Amino acid sequence: MIESVRREFPILSETVRGKPFVFLDSAASAQKPECVLQAIAQSVHHCYANIHRGLYAMSEKATEAYEDVRHKIARFINAYDAREVIYTSNSTAAFNLLAYTFGSRVKPGQKIMISELEHHANLVPWLMLRDRCGVELEVAPIDEHGDIDLEAYEALLARGDIALVAVTHMSNVLGTVTPAKELARLAHQYGARLLLDASQSIVHYPVDVQELDIDYMAFTGHKLYGPTGIGVLWGRYDYLNELPPFMGGGDMIKSVSFTGASYADVPHRFEAGTPPILEVIGLGAAIDFVERIGRDVILKHEQHLVDVASRSLSEVKGLRILGNPRERGGVFSFVMEGAHPHDLAVLLDQQGIAVRAGQHCAEPLMDRLGVKATARASFAVYTTEEEIGALIKGLETARALLA
Ligand code: ALA
Repeated sequence: MIESVRREFPILSETVRGKPFVFLDSAASAQKPECVLQAIAQSVHHCYANIHRGLYAMSEKATEAYEDVRHKIARFINAYDAREVIYTSNSTAAFNLLAYTFGSRVKPGQKIMISELEHHANLVPWLMLRDRCGVELEVAPIDEHGDIDLEAYEALLARGDIALVAVTHMSNVLGTVTPAKELARLAHQYGARLLLDASQSIVHYPVDVQELDIDYMAFTGHKLYGPTGIGVLWGRYDYLNELPPFMGGGDMIKSVSFTGASYADVPHRFEAGTPPILEVIGLGAAIDFVERIGRDVILKHEQHLVDVASRSLSEVKGLRILGNPRERGGVFSFVMEGAHPHDLAVLLDQQGIAVRAGQHCAEPLMDRLGVKATARASFAVYTTEEEIGALIKGLETARALLA
């Protein structure tokens, strides 16, 4: 399977510094299969005009293609209704949208709860809300393994003042897969709603919003083998439709005059202006790609890689893997004694191996873990065991030079 999948990604045959390109940074952004590029080109060549606006055949055809993807995404995440799928430019935009709109409805004394695992995208919009409206933030702690401490989580909820839990489904730093269904069950038990950050998890795991019984969810297209510039905010229809608009402009109103406006129902209320039409088409093709390979096949392949990497990384002298969660997706953060993560990344790059190094947009989590930065290797459907082998060899070489 893996060889034919890799052939679909032209970039994987590139060389870097004369060496085969070993790409271990898919958690930052995944590479794109040819079918995604083809779908965009096909649209540009045969099916493109602005949508929802043209009373002519080409615009209607483009509108249909754009709206078909909404239905495809709804099936992909098992939404109750396709109108619950709102196109945004990425996950960050989805969090900002909800922080602004849901945030403005939070009652005095109520709080937003996040966890220590969160990416800045699911932290900073809530801090901005606090500074704008005085809505306080509560932070659920993690334990020494990097799992959310469920007892502490429930104790915070039990105080009864949490309006929304906004929590990741898979940490981009530790790979921790959180028990989303249980987190949602507890949130509901204490009267809170739950927003899931599925930016990392949806790439590796089937994510079913009905099965998880969550209330809102955000994910981004570019990590899911799709284009940049397109993300999704999903929410239960009534929970979205009760919110005020976020950005004003064309296509989001029912009627407007110089003295006021009334707003369209969701999803259009939240899609002001010409949307990312071609990017939506590309995301649709990326979902087709994932479904053609099979989400269970992808998961099995990646879990095998996680097992291989856990074993082989723990055998590298002086290397410490951060976190040991109950369930880990294909993400490993590590530090090496005597070596700065940035130097490690540079030395790996000289061997053609791309990893990320730094704080991974999770500075508070770095503080919690007591490190300034880490190096991070992350996997995707096209990652091979040989590439993990190359990483291990690269780390040994780096250690010999640095440590
Ligand atoms: N959120 C992306 C990462 O973890 C950019 O690298």
